[in-house]
Amino acid sequence: MPQTIAVLDFGSQLTQVIARRIRECQVYSKIYHYATPAAKLREDGVVGIILSGGPQSVYAKTAPHPDPEIFQLGVPMLGICYGVQLMGHFLEGKVAHSKAREYGHGILAIQKPGRLFKGLPRKLRVWNSHGDKLTALPPGFQAIGTTENSPFAAIEDRKRNFYGIQFHPEVFHTDRGVDMIRNFLLVVCGVKQEWTTKDFISHTIEKIRDQVGKGRVLLGLSGGVDSSVAAALLHKAIGKQLTCVFVDNGLLRKGERALVEKLYGDHFRIDLRVADARKLFLRRLKGVSEPEQKRKIIGRTFVEVFEKSLKSIGHAEFLAQGTLYPDVIESVSIAGNPASLIKTHHNVGGLPERMKLKLVEPLRELFKDEVRRVGEALGLPREVVWRQPFPGPGLGVRVMGDITEDKLEILRNADAVLQEEMVRSGYYYKVWQSFCVFLPVRTVGVFGDERTYDYVIAIRVVESTDAMTADWAKLPHEVLQKASSRITNEVRGVGRVVYDISSKPPATIEWE
Ligand code: XMP
Repeated sequence: MPQTIAVLDFGSQLTQVIARRIRECQVYSKIYHYATPAAKLREDGVVGIILSGGPQSVYAKTAPHPDPEIFQLGVPMLGICYGVQLMGHFLEGKVAHSKAREYGHGILAIQKPGRLFKGLPRKLRVWNSHGDKLTALPPGFQAIGTTENSPFAAIEDRKRNFYGIQFHPEVFHTDRGVDMIRNFLLVVCGVKQEWTTKDFISHTIEKIRDQVGKGRVLLGLSGGVDSSVAAALLHKAIGKQLTCVFVDNGLLRKGERALVEKLYGDHFRIDLRVADARKLFLRRLKGVSEPEQKRKIIGRTFVEVFEKSLKSIGHAEFLAQGTLYPDVIESVSIAGNPASLIKTHHNVGGLPERMKLKLVEPLRELFKDEVRRVGEALGLPREVVWRQPFPGPGLGVRVMGDITEDKLEILRNADAVLQEEMVRSGYYYKVWQSFCVFLPVRTVGVFGDERTYDYVIAIRVVESTDAMTADWAKLPHEVLQKASSRITNEVRGVGRVVYDISSKPPATIEWE
C-alpha cells in the first residue's frame, strides 16, 4: 500500500475536493468518517491527517467531533476551516462566534512562511467561508498568517507538526491553494509522490475483485464517458463476469450503436447485450410534443427496458454504475432544472433494490477529468474519452415537438455533418457541446430552379465549464458556413440552417 493521508470528513461539501487535490499531488488519501478511532488510523499506518471543513459550530450540541486520541498519534495534522476550530477546541485554544461572518475573498498576509507556505508569495488571495473563528491560540501554536478579520488565519505548532488554516486551500478561488496542500504533504508529512492513474487503476481493480468475488456484474452502457470507462475498468478486473447492456432507444446519434458494438463487443470482447427497443420508444412517444411529457416517457421506458433485459440475462448479484463524484454536484447544482431529474443511469428508479442487486461504483470518487485520464490509460479511444456530454433522452429533446422517424433521420444526418466539421476544424474538443436541433417549421427556399419548402436545422454550439451557465460559441464564420452549406446540400428535407446565439441563462443548452 502507498503511504496514506487520512482526510477526516466533518460534513463539508468540499471533502472530496480535498481528496482530489491530494491526488493531483500524486499522493494517496482515504476519506474517513470523522469519528474514526485513532487506533484504526494507526493500524492503517496513516502518515498525515487532514481535518475537513464542516457546516457546524464546534460548540453545537450535534457538532461532529473526532476521537480526541487522534491528537496523540504523533502524526502531522492540517485543520481546514472547521478543522482548525476543532484544533482550537480540543487543544485548549478558544473558538468563538464571529460577529462578521467571513465569506468570499480575503487577503492572507503571511508572517512566517515556514513549511506550509514554503515558496509562496507573502500576500495571497484566499477563499473564506466561516461563521466561527479561533480567538485564542492553543498552547504551543503561533500565528503564521493573518487576514483582515482573523489574526489567526493560519497557525502552526512546529513541534507537533500541527497546522491550521481558516480559509479553504482546496478551492480554485484560493491562490496557490494546491501548493499549500502539496507543502503539507511533501514537506510536513514527508510523503513520496507515488500515486498515479496507473496506481488508481490497479488499486481499484483489486477493490472490485474483493467486492464481487466470483459474482456476476451487470452494467448499463450508455456510450458516454463514464459508463465506458467503468466498463473498461470492470472488464479488466473481472473479465467474463461482466455483462453490459446497451439500450437502443431509437434516439441515438448516427452510428452510435455501431460504435458501441464495435468497441466493446469486437475490440474489448465484453459480453455485450443490445436491447433493441426503438419501436417501443417511438410508439410511446407518438404524438407527444410536450417536453416534460417526452422526458418522462423516455425515462420510464428506459428503466422498464433496462430491467427486462437485466432479468433476461439471468441471475446476477451486482449492478455496476459509472457514477462520478461530479454527478452529485451536477444534480445539486441543476436542481429545479429537468437535467437533475434524469440521471437515469445513476439512479435507475429504485431498480437495484427491486432486483436485490448490490451496487459497484468504481469511479464514484473521481472527477470527470480524472475519469478521462483513467479511460486513456485503459486504452479507450480519444473519441470516446473526450466525448461531449449527451443528454439521457438523446435526440428526443432535440426534435422539437412530436417525434417521428423521418424527423429523427433528418436530424441524425445533419448532426453527423456538423460533428464532422467540428472535428475537422479542431473545435469539437474545444467547446462544451455542439449539436443540431430539428425545428418542425417549413420555410421557402430555392434549389436549382425549383422552389423548396423544407425544414429548419438550428446549430447549437456552447462553451461552458459545468453546464450551469454557458455562452454561445463564437465559431469562425468559415466553420459555420461549411457546416451550413453541407447540411443543406447533403441532407434531404433541410432548406435552412440557423445558428443559436443565446446564452444560458436565460436559454438552456438543450432546446427542450
Ligand atoms: P440544459 O439544457 O439544462 O443542459 O442547459 C445542461 C446540461 O445537461 C445536459 N442535459 C441532460 N443530461 N439527461 C442528461 O443526462 C437529460 O435529460 C439532460 N437534459 C440536459 C445537457 O446536454 C447539458 O450538457
